[in-house]
Amino acid sequence: MITVESLIKNRQLHADQAPRVTELWAEIRHWKRERNAFVPAHNYQVPEVQAIADYIGDSFELAVKARDFKSDVVVFCGVRFMAEGCYTLAPETPVYLPSLDALCSLAEVDEDEVAERQEFLRSLGRNFSTMTYVNTYASVKALSDACCTSSNAATIAAKLGVPDLLFVPDQNLAYQVALKTRRMYLPPPDPHAFHPKDYWERIEPLLREGERQGLVGNVFAWEGACHVHHQMTEQDILALRAQDPETQIVVHSEVLPALQRLADAVLSTSQMIKYVEAHPAQKKFAILTECGLVVRMELEHPEKQFYKTCRLCQYMKATDLEKVLSTLRDLPEEKRITVPESVRIGAERAMRRMIELGS
Ligand code: 13P
Ligand code: SF4
Repeated sequence: MITVESLIKNRQLHADQAPRVTELWAEIRHWKRERNAFVPAHNYQVPEVQAIADYIGDSFELAVKARDFKSDVVVFCGVRFMAEGCYTLAPETPVYLPSLDALCSLAEVDEDEVAERQEFLRSLGRNFSTMTYVNTYASVKALSDACCTSSNAATIAAKLGVPDLLFVPDQNLAYQVALKTRRMYLPPPDPHAFHPKDYWERIEPLLREGERQGLVGNVFAWEGACHVHHQMTEQDILALRAQDPETQIVVHSEVLPALQRLADAVLSTSQMIKYVEAHPAQKKFAILTECGLVVRMELEHPEKQFYKTCRLCQYMKATDLEKVLSTLRDLPEEKRITVPESVRIGAERAMRRMIELGS
């Protein structure tokens, strides 16, 4: 359990801020009861926000909860695509996002560009499905056959029943899917610079190589990346290995392929938590993902040592207790997240398919 004492001890809180945090927790709990509200939080949220959450999870667990919860209002402590996904699955309940700055660098994908790429693959006669990472907005989800998260992308890919996949938008998770499902990874074009002829000239030799190796098909990777994970380097891992060969190195599937190959495990955020729990004898870990998860592990496992190789996501840190309180209390219209019904229906279909195939 997160307490002000544990936060102070772990240097997450200054002692002089403790009275205000205690006050905010009490007020938020009061307004949660008053509103009959459900407050989910992502694993990367700051610990004082996680302390007042009704449920904490990775993107997939949060999507499943969004389908199943029963309450009158949702205040979503995560980023916008997560709140939008919650509304997509439960449009009868108002969903609020405490900070409108809580965006995601992966989610900024132009749906017209996705439609153009689909048309290109059709013109080549490819037998493909479009898989979309949940880190996208509804207009892109609506163009997909199924959504996925980092915890289930390969499982869903294996069940779609087609050889080729257009994987949008994370190029590094696309690599993980290709590796686990025996497909050829086709690297993306440069962002906003898709030229069919140049692209085809680059990927054609790889396609032929995949055929020669008897692979299942191909993963056409989109040109997206998470700015937090994409900046992690092989050197981060090599330096750790040299410094302390005993350390278990766990990376998120949004890191570059070279890092995925060097790591001991490639996982989603909740899978990382379970991985640490499943290795009680292992005392030292390096968790290459957003720092919020590492803070949580330090609080839950004071007996273990975690190397600070993580990076901060400013979007995940945009939510604080003051904003959660004012959102719950005032339910400001500008923080209410909705999706036009014509788009929501397609996005819901792709999200439900993810839950059906990925559970
Ligand atoms: P998870 O689904 O692993 O929680 O990842 C979400 C995310 O935003 C990773 O950066
Ligand atoms: Fe998006 Fe990356 Fe932040 Fe996750 S860590 S919310 S993928 S920008």
